[in-house]
Amino acid sequence: MERPYVICHMLSSLDGKIDGGYMSMPENVPVRGEYGRLREFFGCQATLYGTVTMQGSYSAGLAPESLPDQEKYPRKDYIAKSDVENYIISLDPQGILGWNAKYIEKKGRPKAHVVEVLTEQVSDAYLSYLQKFDISYLFAGKKTLDCALLLQKLKTSFGIKRLMIAGGGVTNWSFLQAGVLDELSLVISPVADGNTTSVSIFEWPDFLPVKPPVAFTLKEVKKLKGDGIWLRYTVKERGKAGYEQLYF
Ligand SMILES: NC(=O)c1ccc[n+]([C@@H]2O[C@H](COP(=O)([O-])OP(=O)(O)OC[C@H]3O[C@@H](n4cnc5c(N)ncnc54)[C@H](OP(=O)(O)O)[C@@H]3O)[C@@H](O)[C@H]2O)c1
Repeated sequence: MERPYVICHMLSSLDGKIDGGYMSMPENVPVRGEYGRLREFFGCQATLYGTVTMQGSYSAGLAPESLPDQEKYPRKDYIAKSDVENYIISLDPQGILGWNAKYIEKKGRPKAHVVEVLTEQVSDAYLSYLQKFDISYLFAGKKTLDCALLLQKLKTSFGIKRLMIAGGGVTNWSFLQAGVLDELSLVISPVADGNTTSVSIFEWPDFLPVKPPVAFTLKEVKKLKGDGIWLRYTVKERGKAGYEQLYF
């Protein structure tokens, strides 16, 4: 299958948490800066986020609750014209995110063209809402997300050769368990949180099938400013590691 090379790039506490109170600690600030700087290292044309992360940090919150009823829209991919070749890929299987433009411009980040990732269950009203802002959308699955199909479409429709997946935990696990994650880039901050409710680097939600754990091979370790560490791992091919036999 032709698809982009996929890197998961995350900032975590010493106890593997990707959100929570530690994020605003002064000791986390220099490491968070390093995390941002390293984003450039991978030369990715696109960054993908899950629905919760999009809603919290990138989209205009949620779409209005009552969108006007619409005639039937074909469940067909829509690719808007773009004046940039940098993309934010927004997982939104149910079509709930809010928008006011087809680009996202964040301080210190290149202007990015939004690509909404939907499943066929979205309403006609939501498709009409995306059309209103001329936002690109791709269908990847009927009711559940098909990660492999999505990657194939990102390559063929947008020419994306290198994709960064940057959270949250459910999204990271979705791509890892689907066997389409190539590399993990983990920046660790010298703080511990200890709480049991914060999101971890990988989170297994109820809606995904049971899969065995995944093993990695260490590629590089570097000390960062502010006592941070940067770990680079590649994903070990399943089967070769013997995990299926061990767990099933
Ligand atoms: N430290 C860091 O580097 C970093 C980076 C990014 C995010 N974060 C943090 O991570 C937290 C959010 O993580 P999260 O795990 O709760 O949420 P998330 O991964 O951002 O979003 C999860 C949602 O995305 C959709 N989704 C993802 N994979 C799917 C699949 N295979 N099939 C169908 N739907 C799928 C689902 O939306 P629906 O439920 O609508 O179907 C799911 O509930 C936030 O607190 C954020 O700040 C931290």
